Amino acid sequence: MAWFEKVLKDPVHDEILVDDPWIWRLVNTAAVQRLRRIRQLGTSYLTFHGAEHSRFTHSLGAYETMRRVLHYLQREYGWPADLRERRLALSAALLHDVGHGPFSHTFERIYPVHHEQWTQRILMEDDELASVLAEIDDTFASELAGVLRKDGRHPYIQQLITSQLDVDRMDYLLRDALHTGVSYGRFELARLIRSLALHEGTVVLKQSGLHTAEQYILARYFMYTQVYLHPVTMGSDLLVAQILRRADELWKSGQSVDMPHELVALFEGQDAVTVREYLAVDESTLQYAFHSWARSSDPVLRDLAQRFLERKLFAPIIRSEPSSEEWAVLRTAARAMGFHPDYYVCGRGSEVSAYVYQGQGIFVLSGGGSVQELSRVSKVVRSLNPDAEYCLVLPKEMLETEGPFQHRVRSVVSGGAPVSG
Ligand code: NI
Repeated sequence: MAWFEKVLKDPVHDEILVDDPWIWRLVNTAAVQRLRRIRQLGTSYLTFHGAEHSRFTHSLGAYETMRRVLHYLQREYGWPADLRERRLALSAALLHDVGHGPFSHTFERIYPVHHEQWTQRILMEDDELASVLAEIDDTFASELAGVLRKDGRHPYIQQLITSQLDVDRMDYLLRDALHTGVSYGRFELARLIRSLALHEGTVVLKQSGLHTAEQYILARYFMYTQVYLHPVTMGSDLLVAQILRRADELWKSGQSVDMPHELVALFEGQDAVTVREYLAVDESTLQYAFHSWARSSDPVLRDLAQRFLERKLFAPIIRSEPSSEEWAVLRTAARAMGFHPDYYVCGRGSEVSAYVYQGQGIFVLSGGGSVQELSRVSKVVRSLNPDAEYCLVLPKEMLETEGPFQHRVRSVVSGGAPVSG
C-alpha cells in the first residue's frame, strides 16, 4: 500500500489515525457521514447539556480503540495474521452503529425494526457502502454482516465488537463520561488494552489486569445509574415516544398532520421501507417535524411537541410500578385536568446490570494457564447485583396545580419521590 495517513484530533483519544485509504473511503460514505446528525445519547442532552456528541465521533472512537487493540495483539500474539482480517476488525468497529436512527432506542419502541437489522441491510444494500466493501472481495460484506450479528465465524473480532469487553463500550463509556462532564465513566484504556490476551478462541483478561477491569466494570455501573438511566432522560425519552405515537395515530387515521416527506415511508409501513428511505431520516428530520407539530391543529400533538422544544419535560417519579388501581386514579385525574391519559400518564421499567455473568462473562487467565469467570475472582464485580426500578412520568402540572385531584395524585406518587430537573 502506498503511504497514506490521516490524523484526526479527538477529545477522548487525542489522535485517531487512519493509515489505510480503504478505511478512509468507508469514513467518507454518506451512510457513515449521516451519523454526524445523530446524537450518541439521544435525549440525554436535555439532562446533561454537554451530551451533544454524535454517533459519528463514537464510531471513529471505536475504530481507533480497535486499531490500538490490534496493534497490541499483533505484537504479542501475531493476530490478526493478514490484512483482510485486520480490515474486517477495523471496519466492523467503524460500521457497528451505522444502522442507528434518531433517538434510536425510543424509535425502536415504536417501529419494531431494530438498528442491528438496519445495520445488516445497509451493509448489503446501500450502493456506495457495498461498493467500497466489495473492493476487498465478493464475500467481505457478508462476512462483516456476520461478525455484527455474531455468527461465530470470526470469534476474536466478534468478541472485540460485542462482548462485555469490547471496543464499543470502551469508547462510549469514556466519550459519554467526557461529554456529560461526569467522572464516573473513566478508566485506564491503555492499561485495559494491555491486559487483553488471546486464549483458545476467546479474548480473555490477564490476571494482572484485574483491577483495571474492575474499574471499567464500575465505570459502566456508574454510567448506567447516573447517566444512561437518569430519570429526567427517561422522562424526555418517553415524551419523544408519545409525540411519535400521536403523530403516527393521526397519520394512520387519515387526519391532518404535517409530515416531512422523509418520514412518510416510515409512518406508512415498516416492511416496505427501503435502505435509501431509512438513511434519509436523521435527527434533523425529526427536530424539523417537531417544529411543524408544535403548530399542529391537534392539541395533543401540538402540546407534546411544544413541551419537547421548550424543555417542559414530564416529571419523573422513581417508584415501584403502579398497580392497576393506581393507574386508574392517575388516568382519571389526568382526564379531569385536561390531559389525554394515553399520552400524559406513562412509565417505563429499567434494569441496571453492570456485568452479566451467564454465558457471556469475562474470563480471567491466571499465570498457570487456567481460566476463571471474572465474578469468581473479583469481590467487587460479585457485589454488583442487577437492580430494577420503575420510572413513572406525569406532566408537572398534575403534581403542582392545586385542586381536588392533586391530593389523589400525590397519594399515588408518594410511593416515590419526584426528581427535580
Ligand atoms: Ni456503539
